[in-house]
Amino acid sequence: MNYHIVTYGCQMNLHESEKIAGILKEKGYTEQSSMEEADIIVFNTCCIRENAENHAFGNIGALKRLKREKKDLLIAVGGCMVQEEGKANLLKEKFPFIDILFGTHDLPGFGALIDAARARKKTVISISDERRETEDGISPVRTSYPNAWVNITYGCNNFCSYCIVPYVRGRERSRNADRILNEVAALIKDGYKEITLLGQNVDSYRGEDGTTFPQLLDRVASLEGDFRVRFMTSHPKDFTEDLVAVMKKHRKICKHLHLPVQSGNDRILRLMNRRYTREKYLADLAALRREIPDCEVTTDLIVAFPTETEEEFRDTLSLVEEADFSSAFMFIYSPRKGTRAAEMEGRIPEEVAKDRIARLIALVNSKTREKSAKYVGKTVEILCEDFDEKKNMYLGRDEYGRMGYFRSERNRIGEFVNLKITEANGISLYGEAE
Ligand code: SAH
Ligand code: SF4
Ligand code: F3S
Repeated sequence: MNYHIVTYGCQMNLHESEKIAGILKEKGYTEQSSMEEADIIVFNTCCIRENAENHAFGNIGALKRLKREKKDLLIAVGGCMVQEEGKANLLKEKFPFIDILFGTHDLPGFGALIDAARARKKTVISISDERRETEDGISPVRTSYPNAWVNITYGCNNFCSYCIVPYVRGRERSRNADRILNEVAALIKDGYKEITLLGQNVDSYRGEDGTTFPQLLDRVASLEGDFRVRFMTSHPKDFTEDLVAVMKKHRKICKHLHLPVQSGNDRILRLMNRRYTREKYLADLAALRREIPDCEVTTDLIVAFPTETEEEFRDTLSLVEEADFSSAFMFIYSPRKGTRAAEMEGRIPEEVAKDRIARLIALVNSKTREKSAKYVGKTVEILCEDFDEKKNMYLGRDEYGRMGYFRSERNRIGEFVNLKITEANGISLYGEAE
């Protein structure tokens, strides 16, 4: 029996798919790269923006043919979109051939849902509002070696006015610090070279014993072994000097901070319920760079939030200039039903939004290229993570998340490699391995 999983959305979802795979493996399934040969197909969905949903809808619809040809095929759809109010019913109506619909809190019970679906031959739906336990006992099938994802918090309490995550992932819960430490230690022992601590807002981590995020990070980075640590996502309202001090203290912590700013305008930030100002954000970056001059910062930006004027949008452009980001994820605001922003007046017309995002992307990309170009001639340490068949090159990332490509006769995946950079192309670097 074979499984095939299709994942949308963030790192959190990628890791949840590893847990779904863990459950399937336990039930005797093995991974299959082709959908045609799978006995169960699982879609792990995202609903952060409308286009994420449309994408999933299209691809789930395309399964109808497979299901007709292969009566025993099970189709399961889970994740954030299923947890969204009213979406499960819509999915069931539109795609009656779906066998299992499960929400974000129902993942630990997925194995039992498979048995129920096989027995019942009609759609099995499990969507609870109950918060999922922070310990699910699932052994994930990890797919991102040499990196390993480790949850530290689940859910989010921030209720940024545009964001659906608090509604589909529930209230914030932190895992026990010792359990996190044990998991990380075991991963390092198993040969993982990069640990990424995951949470919607890692800075608000609070262990049962009062452990703060900087304390947790300090303990993780103090573990023995040859590895590096990343974490995401940080929230500017919770930025602390303690975090900077811990980052500075440990060579093992990547000197990279992903700090989503969303907008450069204070009125828009207030409407977004972000709880910091442009001035505070820039002051924090300055403090960070005073302590750790080589630290690189990346961000997320939203354009065309309701009522955003041209002038306010230009504040985002000028912030990009001032903040000196290495790169950014950029989005057009997408109204999400049930969030506060979706009720706001002053929707920005699509042509205006498209014009703004194009100008923002052009600016950010030119900055990214400028920064990458400075690497030519320098030596950069990357952690080799994969082989690119098309380019016929190995690739990996430096501690800032920049991609580096190189040729090698032997497999270097899982090794830290020093690359002498010979060429920079956009965000990617090309070099020769030492
Ligand atoms: N917890 C993280 C990740 C949230 S989702 C954080 O707080 O940064 C990742 C990014 O998607 C957000 O940072 C935001 O830039 C974007 N995003 C979230 N909701 C959105 C929406 N409704 N429309 C457009 N972009 C959105
Ligand atoms: Fe969404 Fe804001 Fe929570 Fe991030 S911090 S998940 S943007 S509500
Ligand atoms: Fe992630 Fe999308 Fe859910 S971004 S938390 S998978 S809505």
